[in-house]
Amino acid sequence: MTGHILIVGGGEAGLSIAVTLRDLGYEGELCIVGAEPVPPYQRPPLSKEFLYAHGEPVTAELRAPEFLTDHRIDLILDRTVDAATVNDSGGLAVLDDGTEIAFDRLALATGSEPRRLGVPGADLPGVVSLRTLADATHLRTELEHARRVVIVGGGFIGLEVAATARKRGLDVTVVETTDRLMARAVAEPISTFVLDHHAAEGIRFLLGTEVTGFAARNGRIGAVQLANGESLPADLVLVGVGAVPATGLAEKLGLVRERGIVVDAHARTSHRAVVAAGDCTVQPHPNGLDRLIAIESVNNAVEQGRAAAHTLLDRTPPPRGVPWFWSNQGALKLQIAGISDGYDDIVVRRDGVERLTVLYYRSGNLVAADTVDNPRDHLAVKRCLADGKTIDPVNATNPGVALKSLIIPRPEMDPAQ
Ligand code: APR
Repeated sequence: MTGHILIVGGGEAGLSIAVTLRDLGYEGELCIVGAEPVPPYQRPPLSKEFLYAHGEPVTAELRAPEFLTDHRIDLILDRTVDAATVNDSGGLAVLDDGTEIAFDRLALATGSEPRRLGVPGADLPGVVSLRTLADATHLRTELEHARRVVIVGGGFIGLEVAATARKRGLDVTVVETTDRLMARAVAEPISTFVLDHHAAEGIRFLLGTEVTGFAARNGRIGAVQLANGESLPADLVLVGVGAVPATGLAEKLGLVRERGIVVDAHARTSHRAVVAAGDCTVQPHPNGLDRLIAIESVNNAVEQGRAAAHTLLDRTPPPRGVPWFWSNQGALKLQIAGISDGYDDIVVRRDGVERLTVLYYRSGNLVAADTVDNPRDHLAVKRCLADGKTIDPVNATNPGVALKSLIIPRPEMDPAQ
């Protein structure tokens, strides 16, 4: 197999596409164009270890430079694809420095960008967001000089950074618009458990609270203004209010989009020569619901990238594994197996103040579980979902009974339903 495949985006998804293509025996030219000046690296540590490591910040590259050379994966870094045209037999991409790259097939793995807050003062020095290594390096420097940190957004990024900043001994306040933490992704018992943990560590929470602006002091952030008229003194603000898929290039190519680039289960876009994978996409719901879903996780980027590579070579992708996700927030480890979106019932399994598991059901069947500091339950649920089974909800509330002993076949569906 020869040809020229161009991958736009040098993150987890883009690299997964490239590596899988070579694993599948693709021998043609293969090029990744990445906007960042560094080779593909792991993003998850940027909101955790990277921020409190002493001495030189360490980043973990996803693959060693020799691996990329050996696999003939060309990296063009610090460049963006500004324009592209495509037809059924291929197309042409134009980089921001004018370089033209012809391709037979195109893969978009353009990721997402932090959502900005459209309030006055949002671009003051000391008001930062976090996605890239450059962002994390900047935040790390800011943390060295900060005393009072305000985190806007009680989601994954906000809480991970809040825990890290608190561990560094800083005064930390989290401002969240909704009435609980991580409301997009987890059920109320998890939100409350996590809040109690962080509050005990000394993090202050303002829930149901709107930020209306940022006030300057000596040319940089001085205070966060709230809708209730209060003003929170701050010398550093991290805004972690969600991510927006990067779909600019897809738009120029005329691809169908709905928030993210619309792909099918094989990572195919609306154009037959173009695939897409990772945070820039929305895809069919894994639980069969009649709606598209954005799955923002490393696991999705890797697996969807693999699917995209198969599709690029006209092969059928292997079945997808059980989706999973994690968020380490200081000493607390939240793990998610499956996709809870669309659940109609939960079962709470509480083991004292140390561990918590929430099982999510839809139409009587297990679809997902969130666990806090409970890897055993997480693994049991992963296994259960991988085997297409469910967990007996009646006995699951008893933390003394191992979840894996409660795995049962799914009840036969009534064909009339
Ligand atoms: N003020 C305060 N909070 C807000 C505002 C606002 N104006 N707008 C949104 N929020 C809150 C949301 O209610 C939510 O709790 O910000 C939080 C954003 O949380 P996430 O959606 O989890 O997004 P974020 O934390 O930015 O993480 C982005 O990075 O770690 C990865 O995959 C992970 O999807 C996640 C992504």
